[in-house]
Amino acid sequence: MDADILKRIRLKALQEAPSSFTQQLSEVVDKSDSYWSEWASTRATAKDTCVYLAFAGESPIGMCGAYLEKENPQSAQLVAVWLEPAFRGSGMAYRLIDSVIAWARHAAATGITAWVTEDNLRARRFYLRLGFVEQVTRSQSPSGHSEIPMWRRI
Ligand SMILES: CC(C)(COP(=O)(O)OP(=O)(O)OC[C@H]1O[C@@H](n2cnc3c(N)ncnc32)[C@H](O)[C@@H]1OP(=O)(O)O)[C@@H](O)C(=O)NCCC(=O)NCCS
Repeated sequence: MDADILKRIRLKALQEAPSSFTQQLSEVVDKSDSYWSEWASTRATAKDTCVYLAFAGESPIGMCGAYLEKENPQSAQLVAVWLEPAFRGSGMAYRLIDSVIAWARHAAATGITAWVTEDNLRARRFYLRLGFVEQVTRSQSPSGHSEIPMWRRI
């Protein structure tokens, strides 16, 4: 995976939808090239992590990733899900999640969790449509947002 493309789309996501992510733009904007290279190479190809990008022609328009929990590798965590606003509602986000789920199944995971900010109604609805179920637990993100874990069997 191209580290520059990954950097470009991740920064765009953090800028466009700051309340959707635990990581903030200010935490990564000054990261060195090695941070992005490591993500694009190691984390995109390791057995316990993945990253997928979506393209419209040559342009990157979406991303998502996942990792297997260290203590419980049958459990995958979905992360960094973002689609360019102009492409929302196109079905492209479903395809990104499908790719991650296929990866997680292949990695022998049996369930996947997405942590969603409580007021992110669009994402909550999106995950519900994909068969995720909202759990009772709530957690507070570092930025003070209430987050809901949404889980589905895979
Ligand atoms: C979350 C995201 C990837 C979903 O992709 P998408 O293309 O927007 O999703 P879809 O349009 O296919 O589905 C969204 C659902 O929410 C509904 N919706 C749209 N706007 C909404 C709103 N303001 N409030 C509630 N629901 C809304 C849609 O009708 C659709 O539901 P339906 O399938 O039952 O009709 C995308 O919105 C995104 O990148 N958001 C910003 C980043 C983010 O929130 N990431 C998730 C972090 S956990």
